[in-house]
Amino acid sequence: EKGGYDYFMLKEIAEQPRAVADTLLGRIDAAGSLTLDEVRIPDSVLREVDKVVIVACGTAYHAGLIAKYAIEHWTRIPCETELASEFRYRDPILDQRTLVVAISQSGETMDTLMALRHAREQGAKVLAICNTNGSTIPRESDAVLYTHAGPEVAVASTKAFLTQLVACYLVALYLGQVRGTKWGDEIRSVIRELSEIAQEVEEVLETMEPVRELARSLADKNTVLFLGRHVGYPVALEGALKLKELAYMHAEGFAAGELKHGPIALIEKDVPVVVVVPSPRGRSVLHDKIVSNIQEIRARGARTIVIAERGDEAVRPYADHLVEIPPTPVLLQPLVATVPLQVFACELATARGNEVDQPRNLAKSVTVE
Ligand code: F6R
Repeated sequence: EKGGYDYFMLKEIAEQPRAVADTLLGRIDAAGSLTLDEVRIPDSVLREVDKVVIVACGTAYHAGLIAKYAIEHWTRIPCETELASEFRYRDPILDQRTLVVAISQSGETMDTLMALRHAREQGAKVLAICNTNGSTIPRESDAVLYTHAGPEVAVASTKAFLTQLVACYLVALYLGQVRGTKWGDEIRSVIRELSEIAQEVEEVLETMEPVRELARSLADKNTVLFLGRHVGYPVALEGALKLKELAYMHAEGFAAGELKHGPIALIEKDVPVVVVVPSPRGRSVLHDKIVSNIQEIRARGARTIVIAERGDEAVRPYADHLVEIPPTPVLLQPLVATVPLQVFACELATARGNEVDQPRNLAKSVTVE
């Protein structure tokens, strides 16, 4: 049942192009517009939404952090993303015009379920993004957008995460489409690019051997740091989480702009630092800033592992290891940038002799608060 792979996690990483394609299936019509009829919230209600709040845990929370960038950019609706376990305890402000999006692979995570119950009690509409048909979270929500990752067996989430991202982009683009913002042309072109993204994920998977080799060479390290900016910041958080749970190493993700406000003190000789570099096109200011971050940490002896768009020559001189990913629209980059981090964590775990599919102390579905 592992389909020739040693671990479910390897199989599930490899299944990502299919999972992404399946999650898009039937949701883009012939004219290149989104059709999300299955989401039973009427367009008239969606047009009235004045705030989006995303609640989720762990990896799903990281998908939610990325969704915030997409939703605010394409819809101009204020959006916040919050850990489900924190949400209801701070007495959040919600009403009928709030759309709460609850993201959960299993559909059974108690923290997320409690958050959505609280949201509905306050009169908010809840849309679930979920991978498990008929589970509790979609049953208790007003609407559901299913991710079509197929069953995810490995405890560490991989293909579910990529499909959660796709679902989040669909929600953001759909809200933009329904409300007709000034980004209409961009929305149409991103929908087009989304339909090609599975191919790009495949391309990344085909070039992972050097990443595996690099991971094996770091098996005796104690710490790995991850830096990113914009949508690359949650990607850094996700890379660090994967490494903690699988390799049992200290790992932390930082927003690259925060480096100078403290974390740069952690940089010393030979500390591996993974940097997720935004596309040099479009938001080039951010790109330049991150290139100087890489220079700074390298000058302090860090071993730089740089994930950058193919053809990004500016980073090359400062990268001890360069991992190239295909060019994508800026907001979609996490779909390709996360994959090397999954492979990296999986291979490091294996090299350290850890049980990849069943990391210690963890359960696939967390049904207690
Ligand atoms: C990390 C991981 C967990 C889950 C979290 C939420 O690899 O798997 O952090 O993402 O427990 O689970 P779901 O998505 O089932 O609500």
